[in-house]
Amino acid sequence: VRTAAVIPAAGRGVRLGPGTPKALRTLGGTPMLVHAVRAMAASRAVSLIVVVAPPDGAAEVSRLLHEHPLPERTELEVVPGGETRQESVQLGLAALPDTIDVVLVHDAARPLVPVDTVDAVVAAVRAGAPAVVPALPLADTVKQVDPQPQGSPEPVVGTPERALLRAVQTPQGFDLATLRKAHDTVVEGEGATDDAGLVERLGSPVVVVPGHEEAFKVTRPLDLVLAEAVLARRRA
Ligand code: C5P
Repeated sequence: VRTAAVIPAAGRGVRLGPGTPKALRTLGGTPMLVHAVRAMAASRAVSLIVVVAPPDGAAEVSRLLHEHPLPERTELEVVPGGETRQESVQLGLAALPDTIDVVLVHDAARPLVPVDTVDAVVAAVRAGAPAVVPALPLADTVKQVDPQPQGSPEPVVGTPERALLRAVQTPQGFDLATLRKAHDTVVEGEGATDDAGLVERLGSPVVVVPGHEEAFKVTRPLDLVLAEAVLARRRA
């Protein structure tokens, strides 16, 4: 079984505030994307990593990644991405050779996922699950609302039972044929916020394995502070 990782890194990261594309922001002096690539390369199961760069930034990303060498066993490819995350993942999948059977899809925005989490996802796919997501229980109670124009209070529609909810992370792992089919079947404009969501729509089973606190997504400015603290603790 050969396993590849696709890393969508074409987002602009507007929620982080103005500046360079999110994946190129640094953590501990190293671009977030380099951390994410290393996190995938740390798994001995992963033999190929496809990074999906901003559409006009593939050459720059390629140059940057070659400044940060990977283990000998890991092959690296950089392809240009698309307008949406889903499109970017599709472009990454299209770059995978036929020798790959298992694929991980990992957000560049989750630079600090520990290798044990990556290995657990790969192991569950190799053990026969067509789609595997790492996830954690929620600390917060979640409300469903009826969205209103900006500034108006939003009426609450319901409160799903917290104990039944999980916050989903990446890398998500798939049997490659299953994920390709899910992406090929998706209806334009009916995007999902994660890849497993597309597989669910096929009616194929998706299972959850334990995620990790350090696999959090760097989305807002406070997340950068937290990520720097996690890195500093690891280096101490
Ligand atoms: O915006 P969000 O945080 O959900 O993005 C998740 C991941 O998808 C990020 O790593 C981002 O770079 C990537 N992405 C992409 N192409 C886009 C939009 C987002 O590769 N057009």
